[in-house]
Amino acid sequence: MDQEGSLLLVTLEGIDGSGKSTLHTALKILLADLDPIFTREPGATWVGDSVRRAIAEQIDPVTEATLFVADHAAHLATVVRPALKEGVLVISDRYSDSRYAYQSVTLQGIVPEPEKWLRAMHNGWTIIPDRTFLCVLPVDDALTRLKPDAQREHFEKREILEKVQNNYLAYAKAEPGRFVIVDAMLSPEIVAKFVADAIQQDLKTGKKRGDKKRSPE
Ligand code: TYD
Repeated sequence: MDQEGSLLLVTLEGIDGSGKSTLHTALKILLADLDPIFTREPGATWVGDSVRRAIAEQIDPVTEATLFVADHAAHLATVVRPALKEGVLVISDRYSDSRYAYQSVTLQGIVPEPEKWLRAMHNGWTIIPDRTFLCVLPVDDALTRLKPDAQREHFEKREILEKVQNNYLAYAKAEPGRFVIVDAMLSPEIVAKFVADAIQQDLKTGKKRGDKKRSPE
């Protein structure tokens, strides 16, 4: 599987409106020669469909959180593990950090110490990404990029996204060797080129977990 010195599992994270899905699409072109697998959470299986339904119906925060974790398990089983086994580069639009960042907020007051609870649910079977690009921008700017209020998912509110982004920033601070903060206010082309170059560089130098990167100037 994950051989020493190689970078195989890359994740893109950030609040809604941070442009990470646009980035994901741009990387398909910029990194085509590497033939990566592009994937996402919530995923394409029926488990992913059930997550989307739970979000839309706002059924219950614990139901929603555990479905997100189930979707992650299905994603690992059907996409991530098989690809890594073959030595294929995987680039995922959202992954486990989305759970820690978002569900820590939605489960506040519902389960004690939500982040601890969520991390414990993943421990032992999840695969930690080799590199995570975190798209960061002011929440007000992210909100202007989202659909009108009435059509938004329940996560897409200022007070929630502020907490989610603070969570992400805390994770990036705690794991500077894995996270790369990307300035999402820069143009989509510059962001995509920066991330594509960083991935190429990581692959070339064989570095992972431990080398610090900075956002483009
Ligand atoms: P997604 O389909 O990626 O939305 P977008 O393309 O707008 O980023 O994800 C849907 C919502 O689900 C999004 O608001 C983030 C949220 N989410 C979580 O709360 N927890 C998770 O573990 C994941 C993967 C997503």
